[in-house]
Amino acid sequence: MGDPNAERTFIMIKPDGVQRGLVGKIIKRFETKGFKLVAMKFLWPSEELLKNHYADLSGKAFFPGLIKYMASGPVVPMVWEGLDAVKTGRFILGATDPKNSNPGTIRGDLCIQVGRNIIHGSDAVESANKEIALWFSEKEVVPWTKDIDSWVY
Ligand code: PPS
Repeated sequence: MGDPNAERTFIMIKPDGVQRGLVGKIIKRFETKGFKLVAMKFLWPSEELLKNHYADLSGKAFFPGLIKYMASGPVVPMVWEGLDAVKTGRFILGATDPKNSNPGTIRGDLCIQVGRNIIHGSDAVESANKEIALWFSEKEVVPWTKDIDSWVY
């Protein structure tokens, strides 16, 4: 078994999160929680990439709308690392449908409806690994050590 503190999750700020200027606020929630950012980029995703990312949902009635929404502008895919990053990441996001997301969560505080729910987070370690490999090359995920004292003093 690997280091439990090194669990990684894939988090992506969706086009509405970018358009509404919520990038900094969202990143801050993960940073202040204590997770470690190990990969991030800013891109306008292709439909092909999105269809691959959401392949499991291709049979759903909302699938075409989901792809159109996600391809409507730039997104911020990221990888965050830490103990139980996948499960805790989902708690930080709140329930998928914002009408069920608790106050204090990103979706509970910042959005209203499921078709514009501003952020994606992996639902399991297995899907996190798949999603990280889909959006980032190995070189783009950067392991580093937190060492606050030597940067402050
Ligand atoms: S399902 O039906 O239970 O498999 O769906 P769910 O797990 O709730 O959500 C899977 C992803 O689909 C998005 N979703 C939607 N997008 C647009 N419109 C509608 N109606 C809709 N319903 C669900 C939902 O946000 C999930 O995507 P991510 O990227 O994980 O948020």
